[in-house]
Amino acid sequence: MKQVDLRSDTVTLPTQEMLEAIVHAQLGDDVLGEDPTVMALEDLAAEKMGKESALLVTSGTQANLVSLMAQTHRGEEVILESESHIYYYEVGGLSAVAGLVPRTLKGHRGVLDPRDIEAAIRPPDIHQPHTALICIENTHNRAGGTVVTPKQIESINEVAKEDKIGLYMDGARIFNAAVALEVDPKQLTRHVDSLMFCLSKGLSAPIGSLVVGSHDFVERARRIRKMLGGGMRQAGVIAAPGIVALEKMVDRLREDHDNAKRLADGLARIDRISIDLPSVQTNIIIFDVGGLSMTGPEFTAQLGRRGVKALDYGGTLVRMVTHRGIEKDDVDRALEAVKQIAEGSD
Ligand SMILES: Cc1ncc(COP(=O)(O)O)c(C=O)c1O
Repeated sequence: MKQVDLRSDTVTLPTQEMLEAIVHAQLGDDVLGEDPTVMALEDLAAEKMGKESALLVTSGTQANLVSLMAQTHRGEEVILESESHIYYYEVGGLSAVAGLVPRTLKGHRGVLDPRDIEAAIRPPDIHQPHTALICIENTHNRAGGTVVTPKQIESINEVAKEDKIGLYMDGARIFNAAVALEVDPKQLTRHVDSLMFCLSKGLSAPIGSLVVGSHDFVERARRIRKMLGGGMRQAGVIAAPGIVALEKMVDRLREDHDNAKRLADGLARIDRISIDLPSVQTNIIIFDVGGLSMTGPEFTAQLGRRGVKALDYGGTLVRMVTHRGIEKDDVDRALEAVKQIAEGSD
């Protein structure tokens, strides 16, 4: 029986075209600035995001760490959403490695209110840390793949710029946001100083993320990447499938969103499953199984026995993510499995 793997869009495997691109990639030593395929990917990424420059790094976590370190000093404060990936899932690297103080604010469906940010920015006071950076996440993972609109980003940036503070976007899934909003990604990047996005999630590339921003920022990020052990030699083998991802894999994200909607609507119709439908805006679905008197791990274990994989998301929350390789039939199979569990027919 085929497994329906809804744990994450990171489980997507490279396409045949990506594998062929790896075989034919022109390579060189990228630490010496001599890998033409890496340079081509970085140029393409900068162009697509409407910024001066870009840098290939190993992962989204490394992209966030390098980006934060390139625009802050130890002991400074960063403002983030309280369930942001940087704060929640990156092993505390922002404090342990970058020496930063996180100031978390609760957002609405993952989106920070500019008034809350304004109130949180530190005044010039000898006792207080300096607010160095504001971070937003688009799409917001733990909020259920919710989008931050260009208008919302602009409003946050207005507050940031009043105090000359940088605005950074963890855009791991920026293309999901762009596709859902039907806007060019540049509309989402116009009002941020810097950002990162991932190649290895819905875009299906095997490895890699890009840090994007001004020349100066990217050159600082390059030195920090090296310090963190992220200087890669013939990294064209990573960049080549990344180019295919950017050129060929963006438009199909719409299918993932359609499947996510089908899955969310189906879950909403199952008794005692609780789901906030308006938060299902892209390819991530988070729902609550507390009504079944089960914890997330108990529920996902039962689901697993029916050939469907989902992620326990803490307490009674469960996450499912649609991606390339998940078809309508798979969604229906997952719904059938949830229905059986809800009806207590284990
Ligand atoms: C919003 C967000 N940022 C950053 C990351 C980190 O990416 P990686 O797993 O490549 O380190 C993820 C991963 O799921 C994410 O969802």
